Amino acid sequence: MGAKLLCLFLASALVAYYVYIPIPEDFEEPWKVMLIAAAFRAATHLAEVADQLGLIHHVEALMLITTVEYIAPTSDENVTVMDTEFNNVGVRLYLPRKPSDGLRRAVVYFHGGGWCIGQAGMKPYDRLTRWTSNRLNAVVVSVNYRLAPKYRFPVQFEDVYLVMKFFLQRSVLSQYGVDPDRVCVAGDSAGGNLAAAVAQQLLEDSEVETKLKAQALLYPVLQSLDLNLPSYQENENKPVLSKSYMVKLWSEYFTSDSSLREAMASNRHVPVESSHLFPFVNWSNLLPEELKKGHVYTSPTYGSSELAQKYPGFLDPRAAPLLVSDARLRRLPLTYILTCEHDVLRDDGVMYARRLRAAGVPVTHDHAKDAFHGVMLFVLGPIELAVGHRLVNRYIKWLNENL
Ligand SMILES: *[C@@H]1O[C@H](CO)[C@@H](O)[C@H](O)[C@H]1NC(C)=O
Ligand SMILES: *[C@@H]1O[C@H](CO)[C@@H](O)[C@H](O)[C@H]1NC(C)=O
Repeated sequence: MGAKLLCLFLASALVAYYVYIPIPEDFEEPWKVMLIAAAFRAATHLAEVADQLGLIHHVEALMLITTVEYIAPTSDENVTVMDTEFNNVGVRLYLPRKPSDGLRRAVVYFHGGGWCIGQAGMKPYDRLTRWTSNRLNAVVVSVNYRLAPKYRFPVQFEDVYLVMKFFLQRSVLSQYGVDPDRVCVAGDSAGGNLAAAVAQQLLEDSEVETKLKAQALLYPVLQSLDLNLPSYQENENKPVLSKSYMVKLWSEYFTSDSSLREAMASNRHVPVESSHLFPFVNWSNLLPEELKKGHVYTSPTYGSSELAQKYPGFLDPRAAPLLVSDARLRRLPLTYILTCEHDVLRDDGVMYARRLRAAGVPVTHDHAKDAFHGVMLFVLGPIELAVGHRLVNRYIKWLNENL
């Protein structure tokens, strides 16, 4: 009896430990958010344990979520859906069935998942891209770029870039009935990172004639230089994406070498030779007062040059699009940026919006005060959230009005 009681007590303590995360007061549906947060925490902890036991790489364990959530390409009365390849990279295509008066608009979409997990065919992504296609009567190309740990930077970037270049060819656009003047690149989280990097790179590429009309970046990851921004400090343990997990995903994009992760975790990974990059992410200048709150800007602490020599990717603008000069931002297309208050990545997006505006790029910056990272994925089944639907609708509305 005593042993059973003890077990029950331990089990309840464990459940309480997972479920109890202080939920900010401005969240609607706090219980659902708490359960979502607990489920994510449990999944990442289990993946860690399995990794430490040598059973499976922690990323591959999390990839099981992607597998469980997968659905095969399924057409409906409005949209024809198919999997194919562009330039040898897997894509899922959404082609509207409704007639169109003229050429259609197009969105090239990159899913999130920290460059490590995710799939165009995951239910929430399939739903988002299907809705986009249906509501805009637009062609949507959702890209299955290769993932870490098997493939490291710059493979993820190169895959999405190859798809973009393939699709932007006049002959291909014409084959799908797409207007070359109305193409947008979009993505969430790590996909927003890839979208921002692709939009920048296209400006430098003389082989591509077609210009993007717009970029839409949904709670994007934009820099790896300063991993101690006010948003990282305030949201260290908020639902779905903790600071330590974001650090892990960043380092995993380049290597499994734990010395990079450890240096990033203590924000001592940038060598003094790269000090000229810090003004690009200087939150002391780039954040509005209401987000600086009580935080005090301190000068960067530099680390050894060895890490940057071994893994130069983390200083490369194709991985960290905030690390380019204003001159390189100037010709970027019309931009939509969504940031969430309770997100470690909040300040990445806020600073990019600020820098783009200063460079003369028209920017719509939506800041959701009652939302956390990844919230647009919670639009299905028992874990759907009203705030997820609201933000999805805002993004699609912006596309509809601006693309
Ligand atoms: C097809 O489009 C109509 C009108 O937008 C919508 O009411 C309907 O739910 C859509 N069907 C599916 C399967 O999404
Ligand atoms: C950041 O901005 C502050 C305020 O303008 C300035 O004092 C500081 O030198 C800057 N630091 C870097 C590394 O750019």
